[in-house]
Amino acid sequence: MAAEAPPAIVARGLSKRFGALTAVDALDLTVQRAEVYGFLGPNGSGKSTTIRMLCGLLAPSAGKIEVLGCTLPKDAEALKRRIGYMTQKFSLYDDLSVRENLDFLAALHSIKPAAARARIDELYRQYRLGELADRLAGTLSGGQRQRLALAGAVLHRPELLLLDEPTSAVDPQSRREFWDALFDLAEAGATLLVSTHLMDEAERCHRLAILDHGRLVANGTPQALMQALPGSTLSIECPQPRRAQALLERLPQVLGVAQIGTRLRVLAAHGEERALDTALRDAGMEARITPVAANLEDVFVAATHRLRQENGG
Ligand SMILES: Nc1ncnc2c1ncn2[C@@H]1O[C@H](COP(=O)(O)OP(=O)(O)O)[C@@H](O)[C@H]1O
Ligand SMILES: [Mg+2]
Repeated sequence: MAAEAPPAIVARGLSKRFGALTAVDALDLTVQRAEVYGFLGPNGSGKSTTIRMLCGLLAPSAGKIEVLGCTLPKDAEALKRRIGYMTQKFSLYDDLSVRENLDFLAALHSIKPAAARARIDELYRQYRLGELADRLAGTLSGGQRQRLALAGAVLHRPELLLLDEPTSAVDPQSRREFWDALFDLAEAGATLLVSTHLMDEAERCHRLAILDHGRLVANGTPQALMQALPGSTLSIECPQPRRAQALLERLPQVLGVAQIGTRLRVLAAHGEERALDTALRDAGMEARITPVAANLEDVFVAATHRLRQENGG
């Protein structure tokens, strides 16, 4: 990756208000070229609203956006030809065949017939759509529809692809295949911004932003985010996990507790294992506490915990 290449996306102070609701709250984002950048956040955290603003489909209430050197919303029209956008909802025509959908998109992008045929043949091979060419899109499986949607989104060879929870309707096998396709695109030089609420998907990204209630609560490489975690992840084995969880959740050193099978996964301030052990023992619960490797869910729990404390809640 050339260090001199300007970033694909630069947003500063990006905000969107819907009446009294602030859906996106003063986001600062920088996405470098040819990276797979993740947007991780629960439902309602502002992922789709941000993506719509970055596509030029929605005007921000405040802030500055530059995408591929274009200033939004002013240059939205010029930008359209250079970006691809795929939403969580299948946006192609159910009553057209795979071939007709792609032909239609090629015409929409004013691609000449000969070039369109060559490009569509290429997409058939890349996304295993050739044998489905004459099938109506409405009769395809979730995974097949997703391959068609991706083919449609990249047909005009966009430099930047924005994907809004693209894997929400597909099985695990198709998800894996889809992510491989995304990395192929990035390797070929495209920039990808992908939103997800799934930790395992976010963990695959080169870098990511974690959103909560419209605010950027953390960003960086998955590795760096996990290393910078302001706490330790502990696995706790004890006979009454539900009771232990209720007790631990009330301790000030504890940032988050989740039950995983018969164990508890606890995110606690550094060096507090002893205090946790004592608290459980005092309540008559023998526990075995073992440090475990952190994951992005821990980062999310820590980041949103801090946000709630700042807001006094
Ligand atoms: N057009 C709209 N009008 C009013 N509220 C909206 C609109 N679009 C989104 N919202 C609200 O903004 C918040 C963020 O939504 P969204 O960006 O869709 O989050 P996400 O994609 O992370 O689930 C939610 O509270 C949602 O209800
Ligand atoms: Mg959304």
